[in-house]
Amino acid sequence: MGKKKVLVVGGTGYLGQHLLQAYYASSSSSDTNGNGVSSFDLAFTHHSTPPPKLLLHAIPGSIPFQVDLKTGVGFESISNAFVPRACETDPDTAHAINVPSALVNWLQSFKEKSSLLIHLSTDQVYEGEKSFYKEEDIAIPVNVYGKTKVAAEQFISENYSNYAILRSSIIYGPQTVSPVPKSLPIQWMDGVLAKGEEVQFFHDEFRCPIFVKDLVNMILALTRLWMSEDKQIQLLLNTGGPDRVSRVQMAEAVAQFRGYDTSKIKSVSASSVDRGVKSPSDISMDITRLVQTLKIHPVSFKDGVRLTLEAEAKN
Ligand SMILES: NC(=O)c1ccc[n+]([C@@H]2O[C@H](COP(=O)([O-])OP(=O)(O)OC[C@H]3O[C@@H](n4cnc5c(N)ncnc54)[C@H](OP(=O)(O)O)[C@@H]3O)[C@@H](O)[C@H]2O)c1
Repeated sequence: MGKKKVLVVGGTGYLGQHLLQAYYASSSSSDTNGNGVSSFDLAFTHHSTPPPKLLLHAIPGSIPFQVDLKTGVGFESISNAFVPRACETDPDTAHAINVPSALVNWLQSFKEKSSLLIHLSTDQVYEGEKSFYKEEDIAIPVNVYGKTKVAAEQFISENYSNYAILRSSIIYGPQTVSPVPKSLPIQWMDGVLAKGEEVQFFHDEFRCPIFVKDLVNMILALTRLWMSEDKQIQLLLNTGGPDRVSRVQMAEAVAQFRGYDTSKIKSVSASSVDRGVKSPSDISMDITRLVQTLKIHPVSFKDGVRLTLEAEAKN
């Protein structure tokens, strides 16, 4: 049997780059002659920009493919060589990108039907009217982003038979090997609090942020499961951290680690700001199923902040 192939769709993004590094590290070892051997082949997709040199350098041997999820253009070349506001303003495009119909169609075209699809969904599928949602709670998204993600979950579960859907909370952690252009939550809070000026944070929106390396480990564990067992899986998991925190509590954790003056953190209600998109209030999640299924205990938010800022100090 040939080597398994791992394709990270969205490999140039925040989670994607962290995942590629972890896959690369977990697949590489040396043979008795000291030559590098890997247990699977690694590839990734990019979209709007060429694959960054820093990333290619960090993951030698990985193959980049330009793919447009809206149209499916690009998937064919892979077979040959490698077998929340924006959504609101353009729901059709959001739907076309977030519901991976072209990707699923492509996977279905393989003769061997056993590829595992690990799909990133969101905590924003939940309405946000209670604490610690469970996977079996009804999904009632309040914005287009959440609606398209629910549509994606439905599409996958109805059209594909080997999948894990991960309902992720806010992903935080260190910067990627090739820095992503968007601002990262902990680094952003650290930057504004470092100035010593008063900053407003919401006290009434609750999330269970997940440390990126925990999410990466969960995806690697699922990959191992797929590689070691022949059976197909249909999994839906809340992937959050263990702590339910508001933005005020997140900022306090950053300030406490850095020794900043916490009195500069001004608590405001999320309802005082118009963000052009409805944002659910409390979409904290119960992660019992995640911990039982994968035997992974994600780090506390406090520890995740420390790990993030310690990693930044090394860069
Ligand atoms: N980050 C979070 O806090 C968070 C929370 C919950 C769920 N999620 C979900 O987790 C996944 C990864 O998030 P992320 O933060 O890593 O996202 P990101 O940094 O925005 O990266 C998105 C990736 O998808 C690619 N992409 C975008 N549009 C595409 C298209 N039309 N066709 C093909 N590729 C396209 C981008 O390629 P280019 O860069 O080359 O354009 C990039 O590699 C997403 O599904 C997101 O909804 C994220």
